[in-house]
Amino acid sequence: MLNDRIEPQWIEAFERVFALCKVRQGEPVCLLAESQSRPLNIEIAELALHRLGARPFRCVVPTPPQTAPVPVRSTGASRALRNHPAVMAALAVSPFIVDLTLEGLMHAPELPAILKAGSRVLNISNEHPEALERLVPRPEDADAVKAAAKRAKAARRMTVTSAAGTDLAVDMEGAATVGIWGFTDRPGTLAHWPGGIVVSFPRAGTVNGRLVLDAGDVNLTFKRYLERPVTLTIENDYVIAIEGEGTDAELMRRYLAAWGDKAAYAVSHVGWGMNPRARYEALAMYDRRDTNGTEIRAFAGNFLFSTGANEFAGRFTDGHFDIPVRNCTIALDGEVVIEAGEMRL
Ligand SMILES: [Fe+2]
Repeated sequence: MLNDRIEPQWIEAFERVFALCKVRQGEPVCLLAESQSRPLNIEIAELALHRLGARPFRCVVPTPPQTAPVPVRSTGASRALRNHPAVMAALAVSPFIVDLTLEGLMHAPELPAILKAGSRVLNISNEHPEALERLVPRPEDADAVKAAAKRAKAARRMTVTSAAGTDLAVDMEGAATVGIWGFTDRPGTLAHWPGGIVVSFPRAGTVNGRLVLDAGDVNLTFKRYLERPVTLTIENDYVIAIEGEGTDAELMRRYLAAWGDKAAYAVSHVGWGMNPRARYEALAMYDRRDTNGTEIRAFAGNFLFSTGANEFAGRFTDGHFDIPVRNCTIALDGEVVIEAGEMRL
């Protein structure tokens, strides 16, 4: 069990990441959190910012009431801000924002306005700092992710195959692609820590085929390694069949059905993990309250497949699965970038 007390190496880890974000002496820094945020990370972030000579202040909003019929996890779309005018004003004058909300601002409706005001935003995934300590980004991570994202942006077609039976095709033309390497020093941009991910949001009607989730793959909404295979049949973006026996298939069927919303069945994003320090085994090592699973999203060589909201395809829902799939071969316009789960980039 991990104790929630501050350890000096965690302050150091946060300090290193903030230094990569070029936090300056005297810079006002907003620690944005909600009432259910992890108190330990707020404390550590504040202490680390003090060590860099910054001027941190806390902005803490109440965690909003639930509106969904099921527990919501891993959307990356915080609803905590609710366009609060005082919060938005504080964010607009903060050149650096440390986002400690539970879900993060990645897909929050307020994010475009926050970035437009010129802030740089670092979301710290809701992980125990013991995990974050292992996953401090390095400057050289940026080049690899930028190069990979460039290739994904240029691609017209992505294919994903596997020995387990996956055979998926994505028309990548017009897809919105981002690379996240774990820190940002550029005004008007957001990064999250841990990073090491390339994700593309394809246009509507562009994903077709079969995705076989094998035993050992992970559904991060449930924070669970699959014990039995599940086969998803995808037609024009929508999962039209979930085949498989046992708990994993049933959890997926029930959770998607609970939304009563077709958009919950559609593809959100596709991409891959490429963080050399992220470990596939990590989910087995932490109590659920100590992990948000971003390390598993980022482990190098996974095919990261997601269902749920895709604003670039005009679909909105809070139902979201992030599913890192092992041992896939991913090709962009026929060129292999990941071969049977091994990076070839
Ligand atoms: Fe996602």
